[in-house]
Amino acid sequence: MNTEILRPTSPADFERAAQLIRSGELVAFPTETVYGLGANGLDAASCRHIYEAKGRPSDNPLILHIADLAMAQEAVCAVPPTAAHLLTVFAPGPLTVILPKAAHIPDIVTGGLSTVGVRCPDHDIARRFIRTAGVPIAAPSANTSGRPSPTTAATVYADMAGRIPLILDGGSCRLGVESTIVDCTEEGIVTILRPGAVTREMIAAELPHIEVRMDAVLTAADEAPRAPGMKYTHYAPRVPLTVYVGTDVAAALREEILRRTAAGERTAVIASNETLTVLCGIVSAAHTYNCGARGNHSALASCLYDALRRFDNMDVTSLLAEGTGETGLGLAIMNRLRKASGGDVRFV
Ligand code: TXA
Ligand code: MG
Repeated sequence: MNTEILRPTSPADFERAAQLIRSGELVAFPTETVYGLGANGLDAASCRHIYEAKGRPSDNPLILHIADLAMAQEAVCAVPPTAAHLLTVFAPGPLTVILPKAAHIPDIVTGGLSTVGVRCPDHDIARRFIRTAGVPIAAPSANTSGRPSPTTAATVYADMAGRIPLILDGGSCRLGVESTIVDCTEEGIVTILRPGAVTREMIAAELPHIEVRMDAVLTAADEAPRAPGMKYTHYAPRVPLTVYVGTDVAAALREEILRRTAAGERTAVIASNETLTVLCGIVSAAHTYNCGARGNHSALASCLYDALRRFDNMDVTSLLAEGTGETGLGLAIMNRLRKASGGDVRFV
């Protein structure tokens, strides 16, 4: 199958993408978080193609992408007050709300669960595409299962070429990490299943009388996750990754690079501008990725997955990365880095 990359502008472009969705095909599309791999969310056979194209386990449910709140209401049984409040404030935006599913949503979308995740992306191309298709678009991130999520059309192409007919190109995704997932099925409690750009602090500030919990998997690694996808290997680069956090990351990285180089390894480094300044001279520029000023969480989030893929086709045997503090968006960044490194996070 030939995979076309199209920068959609005219109604005819969107109609073409919508026509593919109506005929059961997959179309990748940009959102403000990462690119999605979309199918008709009301059609089980179409959604099955998603799992095939990604190599994704079929018990890992998909998010339904909707163009407006009316479309969300059709996909779920009811929208309780807490969920309605969060949607009013944060939709369109990087928030996925888990609610009891409506009967007509196919089991393949929800991995057999009685709940469904709905999200309205804050991206013009995404919403125009969904509206033209006229159905909710079921979509996971458009990467091969286990790999970092794609934030450009070119990275979607790297994983999906030959597997899907069309990629809608919207340039680089603004945020770079996937949406915050909140479970709103229990009245009086909101549980964050996956941290994202709608932060715990932002949710708590909106809901002062509601308990905002973190899912067990985010606080204790040995407990069963409630978002089924969180149990699988995720975001992994092709070579082993070790993450450093703390007050003296630059010195620790310096020592580790020297040790690895002496042992014959070729190590690449993903770090802040400040840290790379210290490392200048012991690692070549080609083996570094600059994530911007230290502590600038939005800069780090928006380049994180690009950084994790950057050294894929280079002669590199291991990766080192500088982590960050776990407040605000830092929580989402460290959640992804912890998974990408298989838990190899060192405090220095
Ligand atoms: O930002 C995003 O959310 C991106 C863009 C494309 O919208 N999508 C995305 O999808 O990250 P995916 O499939 O890569 O991650 C969805 C996560 C998985 O961990 C899945 O287990 C969880 O959402 N999930 C989906 N439906 C669920 C449900 N009913 N209950 C609990 N977790 C659910
Ligand atoms: Mg994903």
